[in-house]
Amino acid sequence: MTSSRIPGFYNMTVEERRALLREAFTLTDAETQNLSNADALTVGKADNMIENVIGTYQLPFGLGLNFLINGKEYVVPMAIEEASVVASASHIAKIVREAGGFRTESKERLMIGQIQVVGCPDFQEAKQQILRQKDILMKAADDAYPSIVSRGGGVRDLDVRVLNENDASSYSKMLVMHIYVDTCDAMGANMINTMVESIAPIVEEITKGKVHLRILSNYADRSLATAKCVIPPHLLKTGSFAGEEVRDGVIHAYEFAASDPYRAVTHNKGIMNGIDPVVIATGNDWRAVEAGAHAYAARNGHYGSMTTWSKDEEGNLVGEIELPMSIGTVGGATRVHPLADFSLSVMQIESAEELAQVIVAVGLAQNLGALKALATDGIQKGHMALHSRSVAIAGGATGEMIDVIAKQLVEQQEIRVGKAKELVEQYKQ
Ligand code: MEV
Repeated sequence: MTSSRIPGFYNMTVEERRALLREAFTLTDAETQNLSNADALTVGKADNMIENVIGTYQLPFGLGLNFLINGKEYVVPMAIEEASVVASASHIAKIVREAGGFRTESKERLMIGQIQVVGCPDFQEAKQQILRQKDILMKAADDAYPSIVSRGGGVRDLDVRVLNENDASSYSKMLVMHIYVDTCDAMGANMINTMVESIAPIVEEITKGKVHLRILSNYADRSLATAKCVIPPHLLKTGSFAGEEVRDGVIHAYEFAASDPYRAVTHNKGIMNGIDPVVIATGNDWRAVEAGAHAYAARNGHYGSMTTWSKDEEGNLVGEIELPMSIGTVGGATRVHPLADFSLSVMQIESAEELAQVIVAVGLAQNLGALKALATDGIQKGHMALHSRSVAIAGGATGEMIDVIAKQLVEQQEIRVGKAKELVEQYKQ
C-alpha cells in the first residue's frame, strides 16, 4: 500500500472497492471471502464467544481514507451504522495530510489492576507494609502470569492509597492497591485479573485486612495516546467561508464544549463517532474505551472536551487529543473475529501502541469534521445529501439512477421515499 488516498473510492461499487483492496494489500482468498461473506463470523464461533447465541449481528463496514500518521499511510476500517461518519473522517484526513499529516505518540502503555482491602486494623500501617513489600508483591503478580514476562512484559510498578480514612462508616474506609502492568500488545484484562486475584492472599497477610474487589481498572490513564494536527487556514476554506473564519469557528465551538457539559457530551460523542468504529472493527472492547475516555474528559473536576483547538503564532489551527486507550492487537476478539483480524492487517498495524495512536487520530479528525460543519453550513446539509441516497434506494433507484435521484431529492428539498418513487418513475420514462 503506497497511499491511503484513493480518489473515486466513494463512487465505486462494493465489488470494485474489494477488487482494489485485494490488489493493493495482496489479500489472500480467505480474507477476500470474509469480506463478501455475510457469515464471516460463523454462528459456531459466535456461540463460543458469548452465551445464549441465536445468531450474529452485522454493521456496515467501511474504510476511512487519506490518513497519514507519523508519515505512514493508513486506510482505517470502521464498523458503524451512522451515515456521514466515514465520509467526514476521510474528508478531514485529506485536509490534514495536505498539512503534513497527524503526529501521534504514547509515553507509556501500562494497564492497571486494583485490589480493594477493607477492615485493616491500621490503614496507614497497612499502606507502609505494602510499600515495604512492593518487590515481593510485584514478583508474585509476575509469577501468576509467566507468559507475559517471557514476552517482555510484566508488572512495572505498584502503589497504594488509603481512601475515606476519616469517614465514620467502616464500610467506606479502604486501602486500594494498584499494580501497573506492561501487557505488551494485549488489552490484558484476563492477565491483570489473574494477577490481582492470585496475589490477594499475600495482600491480606500483609495488611491484616480483608481483600474485597480484585479487578482491572478501565481508567487506563497510564496508557494515554495523543494525536496532533496543525492546519494552515487556507486548507479549511469552503465555498462560502474563508479559512480563517472556519478556523475561528472551530475554536469557538471548542470553547463551548470546554465550558459547558451539555455541549461537551455531544462534542465528545462526535469524537467517539470516529473512535468506536475502529475499536469495534478491530475486535476491541468499546465499552472500556468509552468509559475511560469520558472519565478522562472529567479529570479536572468538570466534564469537558476530549480535544483542544487553538491558533498558533502563524495563524494555523492546532488540534490535540489525549485519551486513555485500553485496546490490544492480540487476545480477546482481535484474532477470533475474522473481520477484526482483517482490519488489523489492512491497517498494517504492528503494535497495540500504534493502534491506540491511529484510533485517537481518527477521533481528532472526526471532531474537526463535526466542528467544521457545525461552524459553517450546519451538519444537516451533508447529512441530508448522504441520507438522500438511502431514500433514493428505498424509492426504487438502482445503479447509476441512485445518484441522479438523490441529487434531485436534495435540490427539490423533499427527501422523502414517496418523492423518490415519483422521481424514479419519471426517470424510467
Ligand atoms: C452526530 O453523530 C455527532 C455531532 O453531533 C457531533 C458534534 O455535535 O460535535 C455532529
